[in-house]
Amino acid sequence: MKGIILAGGKGTRLYPITVSVSKQLLPIYDKPMIYYPLSVLMNAGIREILIITTRNSLKMYKTLLGDGKELGLSIEYIIQEQPRGLADAFILGEQFIGMDNVCLILGDNFFYGNDLTGILENAISRKNGATIFGYLVQNPKDFGVVEFDKNNKVISIVEKPKKPKSRYAVPGLYFYDSSVIEIAKKVEPSARGELEITAINNEYLKRGKLSIELMNREIVWLDTGTPSGLLKASSFVKTVQERQKTYIACLEEIAWRKKYINDKQLLEHGKKFEKNNYGKYILSLLEKGSVAV
Ligand code: G1P
Repeated sequence: MKGIILAGGKGTRLYPITVSVSKQLLPIYDKPMIYYPLSVLMNAGIREILIITTRNSLKMYKTLLGDGKELGLSIEYIIQEQPRGLADAFILGEQFIGMDNVCLILGDNFFYGNDLTGILENAISRKNGATIFGYLVQNPKDFGVVEFDKNNKVISIVEKPKKPKSRYAVPGLYFYDSSVIEIAKKVEPSARGELEITAINNEYLKRGKLSIELMNREIVWLDTGTPSGLLKASSFVKTVQERQKTYIACLEEIAWRKKYINDKQLLEHGKKFEKNNYGKYILSLLEKGSVAV
């Protein structure tokens, strides 16, 4: 299973903040936004990752994450010249995906919760077709929305419906087999001029190959692409981290717990940031009995 993080786009909902800075590099409390979706992929055991970004931002992502080796990952980059829509990720990523299955996560989607790993493992274990999720929200109009019939059977996914038929939005986390490449190539631009991921999902549905799992309310899903979303996610991370003294999306910790890096490498990471709490936290992991899993 390969992973793609989409970190392109113009981030217009955050202008003027994102006029000169890539949205997915903005801080969510104490880390760059992209750490959070990257942590989801890492927790799912996905180590081969493609980051899709803009020409202007490429250098900054490379400075931040490099080729991933220091975290026991392999990270590649590709430039998206124009924000053509989410489905473009699979056209750009064709060579990277090859014959493998792939997970796409949007760079501005924040997920957190105990059940998350189990849900991801379940999706990964399905070798054919697609898996997407449904999540109860109060503003479904802003998302792709799942439409059910009377027997709770999914009949379609509708992108940003004016009159949503349910409150189940589709989060920016999708699992596909490699036929997604061919499907993406056939998608026509929507009324808003984008190659919609929703068109891909409806094609899998038509083929009888779409699984939709409902994420329960113990999982937190936040869209961090607006000023208010940024603040909410930052407050959430701050609250949980200060309360528990455990970190959300500490990539070095995840790499170490997954045994992608050893104690010595973790120590080196910690030393890089030892003057601040993030570094101190990393170093504390090496103290015996310091942090619960
Ligand atoms: C995109 C998708 C939408 C999905 C949402 C999740 O919307 O098109 O189906 O529900 O991401 O964040 P966009 O961010 O392009 O408005």
